[in-house]
Formats: sequence, C-alpha cells, structure tokens
Amino acid sequence: MQPRKVHGSGVFMGAAPVWSKSILSSLSVLAGACLLGSLPVCAENTSLDPAIEARIDTLLPQLTLAEKISMVHADSKFTSAAVPRLGIPRRWLSDGPHGVREEVGPDTWNPAGRTDDFSTAMPAGIALAASWNPDLAQQEGTVIGDEARKRGKDIMLGPGVNILRTPLCGRNFEYLGEDPWLSSRMAVGYIQGVQSRQVASCVKHFAANNQEFERGSINVEMDERTLREIYLPAFKAAVQEAGVWSIMGAYNQFRGAHCCENDYLLNHILKDEWGFKGLVMSDWDGVHNTRGAVLGGMDLEMGTEKPYHEFYLADAYAAGVSNGTYSQALLDDKVRRNLRVMLATGAFGQRPEGSINTPQHQAIARKVAEEGLVLLKNTGDILPLDAAKIHSIAVIGDNATRLQTHGGQSSEIKAFYEITPLQGILNRVGKQATITFAQGYQKGGVRAQLTAQAIAAAKQAEVVIFVGGLNHDIGNDCESADRKNLQLPEGQAELIQQLVAVNPRTIVVLNGTMVEMSDWLGSVPALLQAWYGGMESGNAIARVLFGDVNPSGKLPCTFPKHLTDSPAHALNAYPGTNGTVTYAEGLLVGYRWFDTKAIEPLFPFGYGLSYTHFEYSDLKLIPGADGAVVAVEFTLANTGARAGAEVAQIYVHEAQSALPRPVHELKAFQKVSLNPGEQKKIHLPLARNAFAYYSPDQHGWVAEAGDFTIQVGASSRDIRLQDTFKLATTTLEK
Ligand code: GLC
Repeated sequence: MQPRKVHGSGVFMGAAPVWSKSILSSLSVLAGACLLGSLPVCAENTSLDPAIEARIDTLLPQLTLAEKISMVHADSKFTSAAVPRLGIPRRWLSDGPHGVREEVGPDTWNPAGRTDDFSTAMPAGIALAASWNPDLAQQEGTVIGDEARKRGKDIMLGPGVNILRTPLCGRNFEYLGEDPWLSSRMAVGYIQGVQSRQVASCVKHFAANNQEFERGSINVEMDERTLREIYLPAFKAAVQEAGVWSIMGAYNQFRGAHCCENDYLLNHILKDEWGFKGLVMSDWDGVHNTRGAVLGGMDLEMGTEKPYHEFYLADAYAAGVSNGTYSQALLDDKVRRNLRVMLATGAFGQRPEGSINTPQHQAIARKVAEEGLVLLKNTGDILPLDAAKIHSIAVIGDNATRLQTHGGQSSEIKAFYEITPLQGILNRVGKQATITFAQGYQKGGVRAQLTAQAIAAAKQAEVVIFVGGLNHDIGNDCESADRKNLQLPEGQAELIQQLVAVNPRTIVVLNGTMVEMSDWLGSVPALLQAWYGGMESGNAIARVLFGDVNPSGKLPCTFPKHLTDSPAHALNAYPGTNGTVTYAEGLLVGYRWFDTKAIEPLFPFGYGLSYTHFEYSDLKLIPGADGAVVAVEFTLANTGARAGAEVAQIYVHEAQSALPRPVHELKAFQKVSLNPGEQKKIHLPLARNAFAYYSPDQHGWVAEAGDFTIQVGASSRDIRLQDTFKLATTTLEK
C-alpha cells in the first residue's frame, strides 16, 4: 500500500478512511471555505468567495436594524434567531470537542431528557493529541461534523486548544497538550474534518484560558513573546491553515480587558493581522458591557443568564446604533460575518444529510482511543498479555466500571453505549479466562472492606489489571474548577502498593490526566496511560493489553515527579493573586522548562513505549538557499518482531540568540507505521520560521544568522540523531 501524505506533517500508512471519497469531494467545500481566512488551497489569506459576498450584499440592505441586531446575539442557549422574511434560518450551535452534546433544558443546563440526542462519544482532546496523528484528528473531526449534520447543528463548539500550562487545570483533558506545534497540527486536522461536512468549527477559548480558577474574571498577564510563541499558534493555524469559520472568546481577562471585549486580541491580532473573516462568538455570558463588545470585535453574544433582549448586543446595542453612538457600518460587518459563516456552511441550501453512530464512526472512535494510549512502563515485556496462557485475571478499581463520557460538563456526551475497561477485557478474554472484579476504592467508600476484597482477588489471580486514576467529578478532570493537587484520589497509591505486595504481576491502567506516581511506580511492572478514551475506551484498552494493537501514543504533556517541579508552581505563578495571574515562566512551559532547567520529569513530553523497537540512522540536513535547512532526512527502521508506529520528533536548538530561547522546541513530527524489519527514509520539511523567535520590537518573526542544531528524537529527552548547520542571513517575517 502506498503511503498517503496528509497535512504535510505525516505520512500515515493505514487503511484509507471509509469516507476518503467524501473527504476528497468535500475538499471543494474547504476550498470554498478559503473565503473566510486562508486554507492551503488558497492563494492568499484574505480572499473571499465573490458569490457569497454578492449574496450578502443583496441580503444586508434588506435587513432592518432589529433584524440585524437579532443576528448578533442568542435567542436561546444554543441558537440565534431566524429572519424568516428573508429566508435566513435559525442557527443551531452545539458543544463540544468530543462529539455532539445532548440537548439541555430550555431554561437550565440540565439534560432536556430527550431520547433522540445520543451521539458517538469520541476520546477526549488530550487522548487525540497523544496519538500525534493529524490524519486521525481529521477523521475524528469528520465524525463529529457528520453527526452534527445529522443532529441539525450549524456550529460545533470545538476544538479546545488552550495550552497546558499547569497540570491542575480542570480542562486539560479537553485540550491538546503543552506544545504549540503539536496542538496546531492536531487542531488543523480536526477543524478540516468538521468543516468538510459543512459544519462550522469553533476553536476555543481565545485566549490564555489556561486555568478554571476564577475563570470568569482572572486577568492574565504575560509578555508578548510568550503570547505569540506559546499561546496563539494553535489559534493562528486554525485561522490561516484550517480556515476555521468561528472562534470563541474566552472568559478571562487579558491585559486588563475581558477576552470577549478585547480590541487587541479580536481586532488587532485576529481580524487585522491574521485576516480572520469568520465570526467571533463569546463564551456563555462572557460579554460584560455593550461598548466593549461592539468596539472590541465581538460578533455573536451567547449566554443564558438574562432575558435575551437584555443581552449587551441586543436592545442596548440597537439603541446605540439608532442614536449614533455606534456606526451602522460596524454592525453591518458583524452581520456580514454571521451571514458569511451561514452561507459557507450551506445554511441556505442543500447540505449533507449526515449520519450517526455508524460502524465507521465507532471504528474511528476506537482507533483514536487505541492510538492515544501511551505505554509508559513495560518491565520484562510483561505486556502484551498472552490470552492463550492466562486463565485468571483480577480486574480491580472503580474506574474499571465507571462510565466517563457523560461527564466533565460542557464536553460531556450522552453516548449510545460506553465500553468500560472491565467490559473491554470481558469482551476480549471473558470466554477463556476467569475474570474477577473488585472495586478496590470508592469516593468516600468503606476503604478497609474494599481493600480486603481487592487483595483477596489479587492473591488468587495470575494477573492483576488495576484500573484507576481520575474521573470527571468536580476537582478532578472537570470544567469550572481546577484540581487541588496531583495525588491519586481515594487511597489508590496505597492500594496499588498493597496489590503488588500480594501479586507482582500488577498492571496499572490510569484514566485521566497526569498524577504523581513516585510512591508506587517503581514496584509495578507496567503502566498504561488511558486518558478518557470515549465510548470505545474499554475495547481499545483490552486490545492493547492483549497485543491486538501495538501502542503508539506519546505524551502530549510532561508528567512531573512533583507538582512543584512544574514551572507555574516552581515560580509560584499559579493561580494568581488579587485577581491577576502573571505567566512568570514565560516561554518555558512544559518540556521547555524541564529541559532548559535540566529538571528530571517523571515521564518526558513525547515519550511512549511500543511492543517493538525503532532505530534511527543516516541523518541528512537538506540545505536551501543561504544554508537554511529546508528539510530533515533520516532512516527509521522497525528492528523488532511486531508491526508498530513510531512518532519521530524534530527539535530545533539555537546555539546563541539575541533574545533568550528554550533549549529546544518541537518544530516537526511524523507518525510512521513500519512492519517488522521494514525501514523507511523519512523526509520532513522545515519552513524558515521553524528557526525563528518572535521579536516584539520588530513585530515579526526573526530567524537570525547563527548556528542551529536539529535534533531527531523519540521524545524530548531521547534524542537519537542530531546535526548542526549555520544560517547565513537574518530574516524578519511579519
Ligand atoms: C462553557 C464553556 C465553553 C462551552 C460553552 C457552552 O462555559 O467554557 O467551552 O462551549 O460554555 O456550553
């Protein structure tokens, strides 16, 4: 099978998705999307589709002031008003990043109790990021777009791309990790997938919404380089590469102005500098005054906490236009942006019917879950387990049976089904092995009794599979609050040690985001990070544990030994004081901190084991004009006995720079599947801005003359090949 090049950052040797034909056909739709920002298919960033603009030119003058105002604010929790007189339909929005959310009650956030609002629950954002597979991100987005079509949604409120700055952020599970380049590649794939089904993606939360603590008011302060090099790239890629049709302003303040009323973020950077032609919506009740929203770049006010005519962009705005406080032209631009997105998504015409919970969707959900699983430890190759030789397994832990997809708040999904880890193991080996289950721990549970039952189960089994970690209870991985620490809750650390003491063959599987493990990690032979794998999670875990699938996930975030090793905590720069949080660590987020400061992490960014082994060799730096490296070539070989996939990572180091820089930064990667004994020559292009840093004085990206090192690694701390080159000239890219 010929490798299929996708996104320019990955050759994926895998079965072409079942809908590759419709993706190709819908690329024409994507081409149409270049009207709203740029796509690779677009010649320039700001070209608009003349036919759509002409249609808007016809509609706009026919709209009354009241009708225009009705289009820039919600008329229910997830809708904006129709203008039936002109054939403008009502617009339906839906959460979230992991699939189409269930319908909620008209006047509450509680479920509406309907029976026609189930959806495919895809793995959480952090699991998708751990796959390091942009092609799979596109497939996940296509599933979500397809199901949004079927459920009649026009705008899907995802992906969430906020950088993982503190391990405590309650919404880290929804986002794409700590690195701007990885987050950008995954976001672009996801958005292209969603929008290929004529549904607008809404990238969120713009910007610097990196904690839930005081999220509605906290003022975020950071230097300009940190903003440009760390916190904006995923949003910029969404606009300029994926042609995202909408973006959501964040709840927090940035440099003293609420993000939903922030002229610098929304007008200066997003619309003027990046050429964004889509619409900016607010997070729910994220707008705080009319003037700020009108002049600060807000195009669609969403929310729930007051009658809709009292919204800041409703009656008050209408009055302001009528009395000349606000220009008609500015209102027209807001309406134009809303109409543009509606026309770009075919809201006035025929659209794909969509489908839901199909075998293909289920297969993609499982594939993302499988590729997102990260094997962190496998002493003595205890994994994969040989199903033919194991006759008794003790499955222990509350998370073995806990349902996770219907949790976490706005990203929750009412799934058609959810395969728990226990069910997945039963599905895989239940016919040939005796499986015993013990809950082991429970929130506020009777610990002594649960522990005794678990130890008894562990004693009599050949193998123990402990399934623990976190869940979506508030204070764990859940929106609207941050975690208080990195401890494994409910005494799990102690229980793991007790299980290992009676059965050394205890394999640990953890749901959720990172936790501290130093107490017990040394005594367990194997550890699998399972995040939240969606409705097929249990099957994915079982298929990896029993070797049907070779794990290929890599960490999208650093796992620290101790919370205080993490930059925001080492510098006492979280959660802020007196309503302001200052990002004192600057550029040194995640591995940029650990590697620059030479602090040993528990597990490094980009780390993940396989059931086979990979060798790297023959590095060549392909020079372009003036010595700039334009591509990296090397050979990657599978030297083991099983097929597998490796994520080869490219890090760039600048020997000395006019401004301080992290010791190295991820600038390219590629996930490559290889059969046993197979090797491939890998060719990875590097654009010039892979060497650049942002210069606030010059308002642009400087790639300065000097010595650079290209590192090829299996993780940020496992550099297999490296070579240096000299950049002869300094360039500035605005
Ligand atoms: C929430 C979230 C946002 C979500 C929106 C609608 O507060 O911050 O991500 O899309 O409101 O539920």
